[in-house]
Amino acid sequence: MRGTDGVAAVGAEGPNVARVYDYFLGGAHNFPADREAAAQVERAWPQIRDAARVNRLFLGEAVRYLAGEVGIRQFLDIGSGMPTMGNVHEVAQQLAPEAQVVYVDSDPVAVAHSQILLAPNPQAVAVEADLLRPDQILDHPQVSRLLERGQPVALLLVAVLHFFPDDTGPRHLVAELRDVLPAGSHLVVTHATGDGQSRQVAEAAEVYRRTTAPFQLRDRSEVLSFFDDCDLVDPGVVLLPGWERDRQRGRSHLAEGRLPVYAGVGRVR
Ligand SMILES: C[S@@+](CC[C@H](N)C(=O)[O-])C[C@H]1O[C@@H](n2cnc3c(N)ncnc32)[C@H](O)[C@@H]1O
Repeated sequence: MRGTDGVAAVGAEGPNVARVYDYFLGGAHNFPADREAAAQVERAWPQIRDAARVNRLFLGEAVRYLAGEVGIRQFLDIGSGMPTMGNVHEVAQQLAPEAQVVYVDSDPVAVAHSQILLAPNPQAVAVEADLLRPDQILDHPQVSRLLERGQPVALLLVAVLHFFPDDTGPRHLVAELRDVLPAGSHLVVTHATGDGQSRQVAEAAEVYRRTTAPFQLRDRSEVLSFFDDCDLVDPGVVLLPGWERDRQRGRSHLAEGRLPVYAGVGRVR
């Protein structure tokens, strides 16, 4: 089976997190099994498309802030997904053409699509690696080639940590990555939560667990714990759309109300 762009649909027989998310964003890199799983999630939680879009808008705002205001020039985006609207290298390189971007995903189809898109861009690469093995990410030759040690890095873990139940040690995995980053690096996280709207979101998490991948909602204090050794950038860890720089844009797209997705940016001490 082949997907768009002639990329072989490795593992396309079952639904897959990257392609289900691509479907929610209106992308074309998904298959019937992904759409069926997505429909089940959407029945449980009808706001999921808004959540996916606003999550993506936040990612763009965070990268704009880091490349524009903070002056970060190196981006490590883990769980980067399919190329879609507002990719990190597009946002960062628009502000700083010299910005270097490494995309990491465990899904070979997402990586293959990203590699096609990035072929003409010598300052951005996509590598297949697993967040469960931070050492393999950090030691990957493409990562060492593109990201200069000792220079600040923006570590992006956007809409990925909720796929890591507590028994996989996500706090420890994040700490392992964060601890090698020089002071002045930044951590960007978004994470689904049951705070406030527990029933629908909990049902959607259950559909994910049944059809696609493990899924764990976390409350605000648990999301905050990923930011140990960081100083939070205003307005801290907040529900989307509510992160300061995202606020206006989010409101123009959404009905009133906050989405059950926490977002935050922290500066590594
Ligand atoms: C919901 S998508 C988020 C994409 C993008 N970060 C965004 O927020 O727009 C989650 C991504 O995490 C990836 N992922 C899940 N488990 C992973 C793991 N163990 N290591 C690396 N990537 C993983 C999935 O393949 C998927 O592409």
